[in-house]
Amino acid sequence: MKLAFVGKGGSGKTTLASLFARRAAGLGHPVIAVDADINQHLGAALGLDPEAAAMGPALGENMPLIKDYLRGSNPLVPSADLMLKTTPPGPGSRLLTVRESNPIYDRAFTEIDGIRFAATGGFVDDDLGVACYHSKVGAVELLLNHLIDARDEFVVVDMVAGAEAFASGMFTRFDHTFLVCEPTLRSVGVYKQYAGYAADYEVNIAVIGNKIDDDEDVAFLREHVGDALIGWCSRSGYVKAAERGRVGPIGELEPENLAVLDAARERAAAAGKDWEKFTRQAREFHRKAAAAWGNDRTGIDLAEQIVPDFELGEHLLGAQTV
Ligand SMILES: Nc1ncnc2c1ncn2[C@@H]1O[C@H](COP(=O)(O)OP(=O)(O)OP(=O)(O)O)[C@@H](O)[C@H]1O
Ligand SMILES: [Mg+2]
Repeated sequence: MKLAFVGKGGSGKTTLASLFARRAAGLGHPVIAVDADINQHLGAALGLDPEAAAMGPALGENMPLIKDYLRGSNPLVPSADLMLKTTPPGPGSRLLTVRESNPIYDRAFTEIDGIRFAATGGFVDDDLGVACYHSKVGAVELLLNHLIDARDEFVVVDMVAGAEAFASGMFTRFDHTFLVCEPTLRSVGVYKQYAGYAADYEVNIAVIGNKIDDDEDVAFLREHVGDALIGWCSRSGYVKAAERGRVGPIGELEPENLAVLDAARERAAAAGKDWEKFTRQAREFHRKAAAAWGNDRTGIDLAEQIVPDFELGEHLLGAQTV
């Protein structure tokens, strides 16, 4: 399952994404965790030394490798220059699975306690132009578009704060989107904005309340987000201790918070995957990117990279020749 953690800045996206990933891995599920935020904190939250996390291999810097590996021998993508972040896979493309080894995982991912982790890469001042940020995050979009994951495997992506997450089609690449929401007007405001955008794209959004102190907090969230609220995490001594450098085993998280993570994971797995929608929307965003700038830049009609009867899904794994 491909899962996004979104929400207002500071709501707890990174905290809940890391706890979710650690819990799933602790139960034996294969887990990939990706930091796609501008502020890169997920590695540290998963237990990487913050300096090592900043120095680690980054997806954004490995874009040439990623493009060359994924395009494989697809005749419609004869060079990396002709691969946009939206270029969908076709016959000859290399598809990824969560558990395999491949040169991308070897080069750009790090193993942390059984979790395969990658970051888009730190952002130096010059990068803060929107174009550069999006080109780095494009590496994540490409990986998601070539990744065949199963129900009991979890790909957890910590997203950029607020509505910025809608600046590309990446928000449609997830089976489930967990919107982390504090009991404040600004936080529910981000939910309402997100729900508005997502409505047109069949995005499954579930709200997880966070930093909840009492019943009044829960009532506030219910009033503003209604049935989208699937659970809430209390203000956590475990998280606070982790912030002070004492990261306990995940089983020591408060039982009510563990139960929320378990319910969220089970809900996502039960909802299952919709490869038809995933493929259809990948094509839609690729056509848009091709028309908006890709065709002009490359001088060819990149929409022709779409192979009409090539739907991503587990049925392709047997056919993989590489
Ligand atoms: N349930 C919780 N209990 C106690 N503290 C929490 C809880 N959830 C998050 N926090 C704290 O709130 C702060 C913000 O959390 P976090 O960094 O996860 O938010 P974020 O949404 O990822 O922020 P950003 O938008 O900056 O990426 C951190 O100090 C974190 O430890
Ligand atoms: Mg964060």
